Amino acid sequence: MSSTITQTTQAPTEGVAKLSLSGAPAVPNNVWFSSTGLPESEYPYKHYLPSLEKKVKGPPLTEFVHVDPGHEALKHAEPRAFLAAGKVENLSPRLGSVVEGVQLHKLDTAARQDLALFVAQRGVVAFRDQDFIDQDASWLVNDWTAFWGRPHVHHSTVQPVGHPELHLVYRAAGSDYNYDLSDRSNSTNWHSDVSYERQPPGLTALFLFDSPDSGGDTGYVDQRNTYQRLTPSFREYLETLSVLHSGVQQVQSTLDGKYGSGQVGRDPVENVHPLVRRHPVTGEKALYINRTFSRHIVGLKREESEALLNFLYDHIERGQESQVRVSWKPRTVVLWDNRITAHTANLDFDNTPARRHGARLTPQAERPTL
Ligand code: SIN
Repeated sequence: MSSTITQTTQAPTEGVAKLSLSGAPAVPNNVWFSSTGLPESEYPYKHYLPSLEKKVKGPPLTEFVHVDPGHEALKHAEPRAFLAAGKVENLSPRLGSVVEGVQLHKLDTAARQDLALFVAQRGVVAFRDQDFIDQDASWLVNDWTAFWGRPHVHHSTVQPVGHPELHLVYRAAGSDYNYDLSDRSNSTNWHSDVSYERQPPGLTALFLFDSPDSGGDTGYVDQRNTYQRLTPSFREYLETLSVLHSGVQQVQSTLDGKYGSGQVGRDPVENVHPLVRRHPVTGEKALYINRTFSRHIVGLKREESEALLNFLYDHIERGQESQVRVSWKPRTVVLWDNRITAHTANLDFDNTPARRHGARLTPQAERPTL
């Protein structure tokens, strides 16, 4: 099948000197359209395909008070009761579980609170045989996402018509363009979603409408574990540091026609967060840096900051004992706690004609603190 649209999910990792918000192409030069440009009219999830409508520039995000639903679960006598009818298999002792036999759509408020705690404890949980792909966008945004925090609208990703809160991941069927691999030898891009926001996301969900028969897995790393594996005195020093996170380069990549919609719906922001953050419900500490959006350790000289960040990035990215890989069986919904994990898509299906199309539900949570 020929393609109409191509999009990948992450920004590149190296710096862009300046940002210009003028001169954005109406649609990206080489990202959206294949040379054939055939419509995907037969596709059952075409209502969730990326919109080609012009983005209207919106105001900056405002601050809000976030109270995590997981707090309530700490008062429950049996916070894992909602899993009783299901089967839980752990992907590793500490990080990652796969659950069968529990329908997320049907959980009541108390069970959702327990779910928040469970995902905060396990870091990432894949729920098989879910019905999210059958739900309308209003339920996905106003019922599901809004329960966990304020639905985030991404400044430049592709979104379906009328639902900017749905962050789409998209690689068209038959596409031969993969931005992440166009000038790199691999597609690995460890990141914590939109960490440049003042209030980055908490319990995040991703599900795929369509995916390759094999491949396209998502890798996760446990930032509690990467923190714990460091020497206590070094951890103490890290706890004194803060890091600048930036959305500028992602917006520049968008304006260059390389990432997302090619259009920018909001000026990018930069925010400073603690290098080590504490989960608001479990109290666990985790490293909160990622190569994609973290830029500089505040107050250190450039060489010092670069050396320390690069050491930590290598530590995070290489340590398999802190990582798991989640496979995308049809109708899977993966939930992760964006505060204590980082993740990367895996574009190992780039030489197949498979479509990969999904939606991320991204509720903003509290401002990171230690
Ligand atoms: C994401 O980076 O949020 C999506 C990961 C994926 O596409 O597997």
